[in-house]
Amino acid sequence: MRPRKIIIDTDPGQDDAVAILLALASPELEVMGITAVAGNVPLPLTAKNARIVCELAGRPDIKVFAGCDAPLARKLVTAEHVHGKTGLDGPILPDPRMPLQGAHAVDFLIETLRAEAPGCVTLCPIGPLTNIATAFRRAPDIAQRVQEIVLMGGAYFEVGNITPAAEFNIYVDPEAAEIVFASGAPITVMPLDVTHKALTTRARIDAFRALGTEPGRMVAEWTDFFERFDIAKYGSEGAPLHDSCVIAWLLQPDLFSGRRINVEIETTGTYSTGMTVADWWGVSGRPANALFIGDIDADGFYRLLTERIARL
Ligand code: RIB
Ligand code: CA
Repeated sequence: MRPRKIIIDTDPGQDDAVAILLALASPELEVMGITAVAGNVPLPLTAKNARIVCELAGRPDIKVFAGCDAPLARKLVTAEHVHGKTGLDGPILPDPRMPLQGAHAVDFLIETLRAEAPGCVTLCPIGPLTNIATAFRRAPDIAQRVQEIVLMGGAYFEVGNITPAAEFNIYVDPEAAEIVFASGAPITVMPLDVTHKALTTRARIDAFRALGTEPGRMVAEWTDFFERFDIAKYGSEGAPLHDSCVIAWLLQPDLFSGRRINVEIETTGTYSTGMTVADWWGVSGRPANALFIGDIDADGFYRLLTERIARL
């Protein structure tokens, strides 16, 4: 079977980094390019970190593009308090040698979707949706050419992680999220409702370290750093590897369960801006526009993740 063509849109971020490694370790997927966006840390760092991860995976051939450095209509909010100043705090990693592509990420998204047959390219946004929304706004024809958008973002029963109501990726650029959720493209959402059920544990992190490989050691050291925030905030045993849920969905969808529902984005709430208003109980009468994932087989997820990282 031909590999599934994907573009990863990302704001690395330790959990983004693990998701990128998972994708690059999986022959079922063809990573056509990685588009960096401002989010966890500013764009120069997310564009640098994406290349660091590609080189760690032994893939300096992957095309990495820099995209939007600020949300559509708001000041950038970053998350150094979670990811550290570099965005990949934990281990010390050398600067990347592979070049950044000259083209803008938005141009790459538009050109690739127009060049490929309709329904052949999956978009995997795991950061704020600024690049995706900008591409859809500049080239409205491409939304119907997307095979699927599988994104990490939002929350409903789990409520917010950056405000009481909003999850970070949506909160940073709610206007972009509004454009994406109204685009008509097939959307699968990995919200905090499911990612918070995919927590690291000491045993799971030790399994990465026990691989005895550089990627395995990096994943362990990134999660050692990344988990401290969630442990302190939630009193949980570990941290959610949010973004890897997007890639795991492509590889083993039976690990997940969810519901096709209507999801709207709050953009004008005094306290709720950035909230994904997920009509889980179907009370709004609004048409379903997304598959909202609520549950995961966490042991199966970590088995998949560890087995794949071992291949790098
Ligand atoms: O809220 C979690 C999301 O925000 C993840 O994608 C993490 O990397 C940050 O971008
Ligand atoms: Ca991310």
